[in-house]
Amino acid sequence: MPQVGSDNPQKTEEFEFNQQKIISSINGIEGIATIIQLGGSEKSRKRHIDRGKMLPRDRVYNLLDRGSFFLEIGLFAAKGKYDDQVPCAGAIAGVGVVSERLCMIICNDATVKGGSYYPLTVKKHLRAQEVAMENNLPCIYLVDSGGANLPSWDEVFPDKYHFGRIFFNQAQMSAKGIPQIAVVMGSCTAGGAYLPAMSDQTIIVKNQGTIFLAGPPLLKQATGEIVDAETLGGGDTHARLSGVADYLADNDTHALSLTRMIVNDLTSMPKYSRREYKQPRLDIEDLLGFIHTDTKKSFDVFELIGRIVDDSNFHEFKATYGETLVCGFAKICGISIGIIANNGVLFSESSKKGAHFIELCCQRKIPLLFLQNITGFMVGKKYEQSGIASDGAKLVHAVSCANVPKITVVVGGSYGAGNYGMCGRAFGPRFLWTWPNAKVAVMGGEQAAGVMAEVNMNAAKAQGKNLSEKEIMKIKQPILDLFEEKSSALFASAHLWDDGIIDPRKTRDVVALSLETALNAPIEETKFGVFRM
Ligand code: COA
Repeated sequence: MPQVGSDNPQKTEEFEFNQQKIISSINGIEGIATIIQLGGSEKSRKRHIDRGKMLPRDRVYNLLDRGSFFLEIGLFAAKGKYDDQVPCAGAIAGVGVVSERLCMIICNDATVKGGSYYPLTVKKHLRAQEVAMENNLPCIYLVDSGGANLPSWDEVFPDKYHFGRIFFNQAQMSAKGIPQIAVVMGSCTAGGAYLPAMSDQTIIVKNQGTIFLAGPPLLKQATGEIVDAETLGGGDTHARLSGVADYLADNDTHALSLTRMIVNDLTSMPKYSRREYKQPRLDIEDLLGFIHTDTKKSFDVFELIGRIVDDSNFHEFKATYGETLVCGFAKICGISIGIIANNGVLFSESSKKGAHFIELCCQRKIPLLFLQNITGFMVGKKYEQSGIASDGAKLVHAVSCANVPKITVVVGGSYGAGNYGMCGRAFGPRFLWTWPNAKVAVMGGEQAAGVMAEVNMNAAKAQGKNLSEKEIMKIKQPILDLFEEKSSALFASAHLWDDGIIDPRKTRDVVALSLETALNAPIEETKFGVFRM
């Protein structure tokens, strides 16, 4: 296979400028990540430790096989929301190796508002369960939570994708043979009590974990009964009297080792192992010099492909046709993949080529990697008259129906229908990762401001008035500001439109782990619908 990308790129002024800009964005994001990873306030972390509990991140890391990885999702969830007081949306989630098996771990952070569920906590929990369902991953719930965040009850309780869906998913997964394991390491109150009660196997920590439908304060109000928490729903009660828990642990460390033993016995679940592979020949550090932080300028995607695929080898498909969409075969950490990557605007030819390539990959059961950097489909009379709408639709149709695992990385712009054709969140990629320079929006801010100004100018004209430059700017500026704020990678990640922001230099590692996770489930047949011809 031929090598792609340049070996020793010229370190031009532009190259060095790009490098500095992207490094500063990466450092900014890493700084935010470090603070988020601390969890709640120093005071609440101290209180947590003084109670003899492990901090949530320590619980997760101590559960994992030594020296293995943790593919965290939703680290930036709720960043900037709820007065910026709910780091990580109050729950850690991700894929890790436990007793040699890939598992989904969801861990409440009781140092953040008692681990209670805000709307984005629920969204994150459901996203983690979706990852587990699609990829056949046993779920381990490390529970320590006050349940629904009561002041936000209307946004977390009654609707289809609210709190109840967590338990619905548990039953659905259990029915499919995807094990559900709960480890009660703190509070598990009211609706939250269903988490361990709906699990296949449940562990509870002595004198620390509690499970009850109504805690002591509510019970006193409801029936007048006065009883302490431990007697009402502590470890001894549930492991000896009620049977709600199956294993009684002495402390967090013991509970985690019992969890590892349970996973060790899941002999029906596949074991995780790495394939043999070659490293890329090109230096990943050089990638940074090619990335423009200004998404109006696209970069040559071959420079990225050559730095993330095994041995830098890429076998391109239809290299001389529809060149703005690069398609071809490669391997990442020994896994065969089909890559679909933007190198400019999507035309009719590139859209049809993409749809054709997706058909090939689906028939051969080869996972797809989308490298998304797209301003949209080509517009204009010539293109509309030659049917860009239905050619674009062919690509969107193929992406929608493709049943092979799809992984998307947004490496630049993600605008308008380009987001759809390149497997945006709505098109079910198993994972969607974003670079710090990425921008996600329905269109560019300048275009949106221009459209709104045009609409207002036409309305004024109909009434015989002409808007002044100042009046036009008054319409445009708020839209420009809004788009600037809401199209950043951090905003997207805070709202869980992606699974996380990654350092571009870690793209290969993250994609490899995503693919390994995806291959934990068998690849299904694809059936396409009607392609408009
Ligand atoms: N909704 C909103 N906030 C909650 C909450 C909930 N369900 N549960 C706890 N909190 C908040 C507390 O108000 C407190 O906020 P603050 O830090 O601003 O003071 C913080 O979380 C910590 O709670 P605290 O009670 O001080 O911690 P604790 O470790 O001693 O107790 C609980 C934790 C979860 C056992 C206890 O807070 C509790 O019983 N909460 C109510 C549980 C409940 O009935 N939930 C019903 C869900 S349907």
